Amino acid sequence: MFGLLKCAQPLLGKLHSSQSNRRGLKVAVVGAAGGIGQPLSLLLKLNPHIEHLALHDLRNTQGVAMDLSHIDTPATVCPFEGGDGKSLRRAMFMADIVVVPAGLPRQPGMSRTDLVKVNASVAADVAFAASEVCPRAFIAFITNPVNVVVPLAATVLKAKCNYDPNRLFGVTSLDLVRARTFVGDALNVNPLKVEVPVIGGHTGKTILPILSQCTPAYNGTDEEVEELIKRIQGAGTEVVNAKKGEGSATLSMAHAANLFVGNLIKAIKGSDKPIVECAYVESEVTEAQFFATPFVLGPQGIKENLGLPDMNDVEMEALEKMLPELKANIEAGIKLGKDFAGQD
Ligand code: LMR
Repeated sequence: MFGLLKCAQPLLGKLHSSQSNRRGLKVAVVGAAGGIGQPLSLLLKLNPHIEHLALHDLRNTQGVAMDLSHIDTPATVCPFEGGDGKSLRRAMFMADIVVVPAGLPRQPGMSRTDLVKVNASVAADVAFAASEVCPRAFIAFITNPVNVVVPLAATVLKAKCNYDPNRLFGVTSLDLVRARTFVGDALNVNPLKVEVPVIGGHTGKTILPILSQCTPAYNGTDEEVEELIKRIQGAGTEVVNAKKGEGSATLSMAHAANLFVGNLIKAIKGSDKPIVECAYVESEVTEAQFFATPFVLGPQGIKENLGLPDMNDVEMEALEKMLPELKANIEAGIKLGKDFAGQD
């Protein structure tokens, strides 16, 4: 019987105390030799707060690590290769943050959800390994379909008595980056001066930009607003089609994930200013059990979920319309997680 609630928490306490005794922040990148993994590892190597960078992939991390190790920043870079659980566990051992770009990208004509079959095991493997070797790590999944992968990993972590909803994230930062860029273009302003909440999930209409709350204000016509929303929702597909079968967004995704991990690091280190982030997390904000909204981060993960932004009627309607799809994705993830946990 799958006993999610029957667990004590022995592992958590035990490893956490040793984790907090170790000096130096460790980030493990799972999928580090891939299209996202390499530029992401480069950007992380440039972060002066990271002292240990562990690069895991099925193959080719030796070369990537050697290459990065010549960069004159403090992080030591260690390669780990292999599809067995051992190398993954060594890479993730006592990591403070595990960021996961591993998995196959989609091809033109595919939806992100079509990747479930091939990528589900990545989420399960990482969750099992984290339970054993870094139970207090922040885990950030980039692997698609994020809407399914995060509930799957949560379910495996629960089964291993090691789930902390404040430490598990689906990275949706690229949706925010894209929203800032496209709105910046439309307003002819520096995109870095634009703020747009993007809530929900990370596929199709579950990506919901709240343009009514954009700063500076975006006052397009209804048609322009609709077009802009569609562009943000379809931006991943725009890249997939432009790459003509050679994968999906890698460079912009690496940039977005680096922004997110950078803020996780600031939160772990403690910051005077509140760190507000947005990601797909366990949530009570809507009837979907996982949902992306802004939240405040602290050293222990999510400190406070800031909930839904103000929305106009059209945005409220779009939220209602996306919920069935998001809930179905979540249910599929939980079911898969239970299957993986049952097999363990
Ligand atoms: C993206 O948003 O670019 C990624 O989720 C990759 C994809 O398949 O679209």
